[in-house]
Amino acid sequence: MWHTFLSYLKYKRKAKTKYSIHSPFVYNFITKALEPKLDNELFNKYVSYRTTLLKDKSQIEVTDYGAGSKVFKEAKRSIDKIAKIAGISPKKAKLLLKITNYFQPKNILELGTSLGMSTLCLYKASPNAKITSIEACPETAQKANEYLTKFQIPVKIINDTFENVLPVICHKNKYDLVLFDGNHQLDATLNYFEICKHSAEDHTLFIFDDIHWNTEMEMAWEKITQDEQIHVSIDLFHYGLVFYRKGQVKQHFII
Ligand SMILES: C[S@@+](CC[C@H](N)C(=O)[O-])C[C@H]1O[C@@H](n2cnc3c(N)ncnc32)[C@H](O)[C@@H]1O
Repeated sequence: MWHTFLSYLKYKRKAKTKYSIHSPFVYNFITKALEPKLDNELFNKYVSYRTTLLKDKSQIEVTDYGAGSKVFKEAKRSIDKIAKIAGISPKKAKLLLKITNYFQPKNILELGTSLGMSTLCLYKASPNAKITSIEACPETAQKANEYLTKFQIPVKIINDTFENVLPVICHKNKYDLVLFDGNHQLDATLNYFEICKHSAEDHTLFIFDDIHWNTEMEMAWEKITQDEQIHVSIDLFHYGLVFYRKGQVKQHFII
């Protein structure tokens, strides 16, 4: 908690306004994607999905992968609590909807389905997209499948670990957007990033969740932004965005 609070103060001190941004690509992203008000209808779909999950008091047996939870101690967890704690928050959902809606990716990969709350945002913001989402916990993946089917969200959920799945699918497919939202540990995040690079094209957007969640994620984010192949990186505090954009001078933005 303290770590995130102090990181936020640091971020606020460094954050720039659009007036000091000289990259047309990033300026357009701020003024056309982030600043305009989000279509209420899009946000309402997320709210309705979240509200349904928050009413579900049934329990499932969760198998923890990655860094595990800072909050949960028991394996038996109720759906409403998972939705509240692990699922994307309303503030972040707005941001994800805006970003996805602006770029309109056609092929999306999500690392960490949980109950499908961010999966729903990705689909609603880019309804023509083909979405693949990976979730290792069997009971969580099954619940996500049930709810996403009920809400008519066509998504392929792969119930396996990132470690098993990524080397296979990232050599076979190209993705326009990859959302990294599982296993917030340094080595794992850098490993997934390296593998996912095989599936990236010049315009591909990688979104890293919780880049200031802990010291390891801060270190991972710094390493990712320093990668020679990455020419544009944007720190939005809750999310870190990176693109290859080879033609552009290498720049890091904090906005
Ligand atoms: C923070 S939750 C994802 C939240 C979801 N994106 C949302 O906003 O609703 C992270 C999920 O990643 C899964 N996960 C963590 N490490 C994993 C791994 N190595 N392989 C597959 N799934 C993993 C966890 O089981 C957990 O459900």
